Amino acid sequence: MRLVIVSNRVTIPDRHEKVAAGGLAVALREALEKRGGLWFGWSGDVSDAPGGQAVRTVQRGKVTYAVTDLSESERQTYYLGFSNRALWPNMHYRLGLTEFSRTDYAGYLAVNRRFAKALIPLLKPDDLIWIHDYHLIPLAAELRRRGVTNRIGYFHHIPWPPAEVFGALPFSATLISTMGAYDLVGVQTQVDVRNLISGLVSLCGARVEGGKVRMGRRETTVQAFPIGIDVEAFRKLAAASERAATRPIKATRESLGARKLVIGVDRLDYSKGIVQRLEAFGQFLRSHPEHRGRVGLLQIAPPSRSDVPEYAELDRQSDETAGRLNAALGEFDWTPIRVVKKAYSRNALAGFYRRAQVGLVTPMRDGMNLVAKEYIAAQDPADPGVLVLSRFAGAAQQMGEALIVNPYDTHEVAEAIRTALAMPKSERIRRFERLYEIIEATDIGWWTQCYLDALSGIEAPIQDNA
Ligand code: UDP
Ligand code: G6P
Repeated sequence: MRLVIVSNRVTIPDRHEKVAAGGLAVALREALEKRGGLWFGWSGDVSDAPGGQAVRTVQRGKVTYAVTDLSESERQTYYLGFSNRALWPNMHYRLGLTEFSRTDYAGYLAVNRRFAKALIPLLKPDDLIWIHDYHLIPLAAELRRRGVTNRIGYFHHIPWPPAEVFGALPFSATLISTMGAYDLVGVQTQVDVRNLISGLVSLCGARVEGGKVRMGRRETTVQAFPIGIDVEAFRKLAAASERAATRPIKATRESLGARKLVIGVDRLDYSKGIVQRLEAFGQFLRSHPEHRGRVGLLQIAPPSRSDVPEYAELDRQSDETAGRLNAALGEFDWTPIRVVKKAYSRNALAGFYRRAQVGLVTPMRDGMNLVAKEYIAAQDPADPGVLVLSRFAGAAQQMGEALIVNPYDTHEVAEAIRTALAMPKSERIRRFERLYEIIEATDIGWWTQCYLDALSGIEAPIQDNA
């Protein structure tokens, strides 16, 4: 059975390693390259030329990439608008940041229709279709409407909020009801399962029967599949980085000297709690002045969705916060906080993680957070660093041996940094070993296998055009 993956973001690998910031692209590439198949979605380019939106296919190893450009108006309404100014903040529990517009919603539905029409000619009867993330929720309904009877699964990479929060979004009932077109809906955690099922029940009258959700004549299974990383590959990259003499790693080694390193790696996104994290680091240095000059925070923050006003505002705020704290706390020969707004290759990141005594992963809300898993995979088992992890990241459900914090509590995060830096080696090793065991047992291969076994094991879908 061929696997067909559909996602908004598709990055076709080129000869030079292309940096992919974003868990979906990283995880799916790892999942698909081994298995082979078709990957359909947005090229990342915009084109208003006639025929510019035709589907182009490119073969790389066992994977066929089929991509289409968006028009500028599609990018504005579907991608920047409804997906990233309405769905993204709503699903990260941020009603105050949610900007809804009917034009954006119409654009979102139109792109889902267009993707369905463009995908159908590429499909074979026994393809297993696996659709990813919030940009494409109504895609299966559009495919079914046009007669597609294949098994279709969906995986939601970001949190699913409580029904009261999701219900605040205009057209939430219509949108959530399109979930009924899938055979299997995967989410990251049990909390997401509960929220989604209660939304389906309360917003569109679904019935829950034997672990399945029934809407009309169709049945949909809703299940948690916590996404993982390629632990072994990352461990090897990190171990090799100790010997590697690549420029960023060498330069970091030289510029840090004997100083300790605390690291944060996130797209520049308000869900990641970057500003709150900088404040917590400042608070830590104020409360524990003996650490001044001895430790630095390196925050890697590649810009993301910069055309969305709320992201531009975050960009400004993070500069302001880092500048203010550095001015107040720095010395002539020591800058406490470095914010680097560019994307690094996985190779370079593995080296940074390995060198850092503390991994600071403190999102205000996150579907899973792969950085938390990468940080653990990259540690030296004989002298590992400590992970400080937000209880609001999906990863916290699996990684209880990290120092779990509430990112809204600056004092608590500041104290966790101090605890992490002072932790005896025996305790660091004990925590690391348990965390490593968990991420290894639930790595990306496990995730893909579990999901696809569940999707292909589901009884043949009812042959209707519901
Ligand atoms: N990433 C990267 N280069 C960077 C920053 C991030 O390759 O400069 C990768 C990172 O290694 C991780 C992914 O982007 O694999 C981010 O995934 P995560 O689940 O942590 O957050 P998301 O961006 O999906 O919200
Ligand atoms: C998160 C989302 C992905 C998205 C990625 C990067 O990981 O779950 O769907 O691709 O962020 O965001 P972007 O808007 O650049 O695709």
